[in-house]
Amino acid sequence: MNLILLGPPGAGKGTQAKMLIEAYGIPQISTGDMLREAVKNQTALGMEAKKYMDSGQLVPDEVVIGLAKDRIAQPDCGKGFMLDGFPRTVPQAEALDKVLADMGKKIDHVISIEVPSSELLGRLTGRRTCKACGQGFHVMFDPPKKEGVCDKCGGELYQRDDDNEATVSNRLKVYEDQTAPLIDYYKAKGLLRPIDGVGAMGEILDRIKAVLG
Ligand code: AP5
Ligand code: ZN
Repeated sequence: MNLILLGPPGAGKGTQAKMLIEAYGIPQISTGDMLREAVKNQTALGMEAKKYMDSGQLVPDEVVIGLAKDRIAQPDCGKGFMLDGFPRTVPQAEALDKVLADMGKKIDHVISIEVPSSELLGRLTGRRTCKACGQGFHVMFDPPKKEGVCDKCGGELYQRDDDNEATVSNRLKVYEDQTAPLIDYYKAKGLLRPIDGVGAMGEILDRIKAVLG
């Protein structure tokens, strides 16, 4: 099963992806996580990407298309995969269609997680992530048992550089301008599965499972 998780910053794509890995055993491909790893390792690609990420802009299409293409070709994606944060522009979606067609694959469902924009800023500025295992938390909605420490592995929690108020408002604007058009793109293909993204995280997972079967 090949899935796309679509939705604005803070909609819960990463949160649901982590739970879907356990439920369906398919890997999460997050271009955001891949780019943050490149930034951490100070690779040439990471240093180039950081300029865009820090201001909430999108990294150029050719960079992320290359990353996603290489990742989808890995053997662990043979039984399926979940794209999180890719595609994010119409040219990225068109490139993905071509990459998959060349591999004899296709997307089965586009899970479109819908959350009102009024809720997104608070979700993002309160997010904390584990440095060691990547588990996500929220200071109010999903707090760790001990402040600043991951429940799962004991790792240290950090706040993403782009989760400050100014960068978040840019990211939300970029989403509306460049990514929201993908909703119509996938609706026209009959692949769009709208999911109400407000409620408890487990309830939202159940809504997605009901669609996937
Ligand atoms: P990326 O890492 O993809 O970030 P994003 O799309 O902005 O999405 P987020 O990770 O912020 O949100 P999410 O939906 O995963 O929310 P989460 O589950 O964590 O991209 C970052 C940057 O990289 C981009 O700005 C761009 O520069 C670059 N980039 C990446 N991909 C690119 C591409 N394809 N093309 C070009 N550039 C690219 O949840 C958020 C918070 O809410 C958490 O604290 C969570 O605990 C909480 N939460 C989750 N669910 C609920 C709930 N139901 N109720 C209450 N709180 C909840
Ligand atoms: Zn951890």
